[in-house]
Parts: sequence; C-alpha cells; structure tokens
Amino acid sequence: MNLDLLVEDLASSDAPRDRRTLDKLHTVQSECRHLEEILDAFLQFARVGELDLVPTDLNSVVSRFLDFYRPQADDTKIEISPHLQPGLPAVAADEPLLRQMLMNLCRNAADAMPGGGRLEIQTTVVDNRVALVVIDNGRGMDDAARSRMFDTFFSTRPSGSGLGLPTVRKIVQAHLGTIDCESEPGQGTKFTILLPIETETSS
Ligand SMILES: Nc1ncnc2c1ncn2[C@@H]1O[C@H](COP(=O)(O)OP(=O)(O)O)[C@@H](O)[C@H]1O
Ligand SMILES: [Mg+2]
Repeated sequence: MNLDLLVEDLASSDAPRDRRTLDKLHTVQSECRHLEEILDAFLQFARVGELDLVPTDLNSVVSRFLDFYRPQADDTKIEISPHLQPGLPAVAADEPLLRQMLMNLCRNAADAMPGGGRLEIQTTVVDNRVALVVIDNGRGMDDAARSRMFDTFFSTRPSGSGLGLPTVRKIVQAHLGTIDCESEPGQGTKFTILLPIETETSS
C-alpha cells in the first residue's frame, strides 16, 4: 500500500528525477505482484490436506465456477463450451478445492492460448467414476514438458510458479481420484480427472 501511495505521489511530477524514480517503483510494484502470486500459489499448494468432503454435484460446481470465470475468459477471447452430462452421480468432494483445481487448469489453458481459443469442459461417467475433462486447443506440450509438468516449480513460463499442476494433482489425490494428460505440440491439451462416485467412498 505504501508503494502504491508513493507511486501516486510521484505520478503528478514532471521532474526528470521523479520520472526515473517512478519507473523504478513500477518495476518494484510488478515484482511484488509476481512474488504475491508465487506466495499465493505456494500457500494453496501447502494447504491442500485440510479436506471437507461432502456429497457434491460436480455439474453444479462447474457451472458456478464458469459463472465466475466466464468474464475473464471473454476478456482473453477464450470461448468456453461446457458439456455437462445430466444426472451425474454425486462425488465426495470439497467444493472450494474443486474450484481451485478448475481455476488452475483453466489458467493454464488460457496461458497456452495467448491469442484466444476454445476451452471445452466435459463431465461424464466413465467406468463407474465421474470424469471431468478439460480440453484446450492451445500450444500443447512437448515430451520434455509432458514428463515434468507435475514437478513442483517446473514451469516454461517466465513468470510461472510451477505450482499450478502440482496443486491440481494434490487436490485430485486428496479426492482419491486420478489425473491423466494427453498433449501434442501445436495440437492442444486434454486433462482427464476421474473421481470416485460418492457411495464408494462413504462409509
Ligand atoms: N494446458 C496446457 N497447455 C500447454 N502447456 C501446459 C498446460 N498446462 C500446463 N502446461 C505446462 O506445464 C507447466 C507447469 O504448469 P503449472 O504447474 O500450472 O505452472 P505454471 O502455470 O506456473 O507454469 C507450464 O509451465 C506449461 O509448460
Ligand atoms: Mg499454471
């Protein structure tokens, strides 16, 4: 906040020395924002574990998430197409964590489609499990990135934290689910998350 106040103070000055100081302050501001993002990502990663599993309709979670996410997607020219299978069985889930997982996957998809693109979100039942599928038609991953994407701090982005996918995987595992990824450079990326149906996990 003090930094913002300082920038505000100097913004009205035309003195060359103040302009130079202002430039430096803008750099410090953007580095602070970057550190804040890394810290947020790290805290999210560290906090997965405090789970509150209740019978949950995945379609409602996805719909509520999309209501919130759609404006951001529109801003970045990302067209979302949801295909939610009606009458999905409940999963034992922690909704805030599922939203976090969706957010991280959609952010990555958006990062992979800097000029915009298509983001498909499907729910369905596969082999007695509830499936969540997230598909983008972005830049995709080569073998090297594919083999390391779940490693903590692995990132191909200059300002990436490398904690997005490790957090997603941690959330999926905490729900006794599995995550699988298919990706080809230039073709796009598909993440498939399978979650156990609620009756299987409840006692
Ligand atoms: N949808 C995607 N399309 C292409 N590459 C991806 C996608 N999702 C993840 N990746 C790759 O996996 C890396 C790790 O992702 P993540 O853990 O979220 O960290 P970050 O987004 O901070 O780089 C990304 O830097 C990128 O190389
Ligand atoms: Mg990410």
